[in-house]
Amino acid sequence: MDDERAQAFLPYGRQNIDESDIEAVIAALKGPRITQGPLVEEFEQGLCNYLGADYATVVCNGTAALHLAYAALDIGPGDEIITTPLTFAATANAARYLGAELRFADVDPDSGNILPSSVATLIGPKTKAIVAVHLGGLPVDMEELRNIADRNHLWLVEDAAHALGATYRGRRIGSGLADVATFSFHPVKHLTTGEGGAALTNNKRLKDRMDQLRHHGVERRPEKFAKKSPGRWYYEVQELGYNYRLTDIQCALGLSQLEKQPAALKRRRIIAERYRTRISAGFGDNVVAQRSYDDRQSAYHLFPVLIDFDALGITRDEVMESLERQGIGTQVHYIPVSWQPYYQERYGQPQAQSGVYRYYQRTLSLPMYPGLSDEEVDHVVDSLARALGQQLPAKVAS
Ligand SMILES: Cc1ncc(COP(=O)(O)O)c(C=O)c1O
Repeated sequence: MDDERAQAFLPYGRQNIDESDIEAVIAALKGPRITQGPLVEEFEQGLCNYLGADYATVVCNGTAALHLAYAALDIGPGDEIITTPLTFAATANAARYLGAELRFADVDPDSGNILPSSVATLIGPKTKAIVAVHLGGLPVDMEELRNIADRNHLWLVEDAAHALGATYRGRRIGSGLADVATFSFHPVKHLTTGEGGAALTNNKRLKDRMDQLRHHGVERRPEKFAKKSPGRWYYEVQELGYNYRLTDIQCALGLSQLEKQPAALKRRRIIAERYRTRISAGFGDNVVAQRSYDDRQSAYHLFPVLIDFDALGITRDEVMESLERQGIGTQVHYIPVSWQPYYQERYGQPQAQSGVYRYYQRTLSLPMYPGLSDEEVDHVVDSLARALGQQLPAKVAS
């Protein structure tokens, strides 16, 4: 086996589970309640403390968090939301579950993030909310979006599935820059509960509504009952809700993962710096890292590089194949949602000469997770150079 093959396969993202996580789950399994127990609120409080938000509702996945957020904002038939096409389908799908329509804004071609100027042009009488997605963990321009939302009396939502720990002008994403921020705890994300998610808000009314919808629309507070209570067993289903609960077993894992989040985030940022240094030193203008900004810190869920495949005379598929042969998994984030047959049929052909097109054509996500060693990061960069037929970039000290 040659040197390239001797390394373990490096996926583009993976979970970070250790013995303390396993012990926390075992302890929860031995506890009196494995679902609807005390660890749910404990995990919610832990998330609020970490992010600086007032309220959290944890749910069974990030898509459910989006669905509850939109539902709590009364988004429904006849409403439109404006979002980015450079996201996972869930951001858009959750609006469609409620019968709302979408308008897809353009993005900055070098960051992949939604452009507030494009959002502003799409606002109409049906617009109810703007939904920002911090692509790869890089915060969007929240102040600009907040101004646009406020001027037009719109809700502002953050799909922050990629952005646990990211900051914008010194404030954590999820701390109240938007009316609701949603997170995902899928294994490739910063913190995992197997499957899981959360919606955070500083608005008590939205929190109560999301809690109720998470559990079949059930109301247990006597002062809120529509009918007279006949006794202590009584509860009311006041609207159509769902079962989107997260178990105590998962919350135990979430709490244990949350303890390690600061160190894991630090490691992601060190890895990103190493990638950036080697890429900018070695590849020239046709291979650059996702744009960065002085006023925001990415949480680096992903490490996207932008490669001008046309200028280099190679296809993305060839590069991905070569990297795979060298033991490296890569991924494209994302095929624009508006290009997916379901959406294209509804909303028509997206423009080719757009920031979305320019970003999508060039993007490739390299491995990014806290367990990557410096040597593995170097191996990825060297392998990329080989895949592109370029000289190996200079090494940097560890
Ligand atoms: C941007 C974005 N939004 C929403 C989701 C949905 O999260 P989940 O898979 O937990 O339902 C994801 C998951 O990949 C995502 O990347």
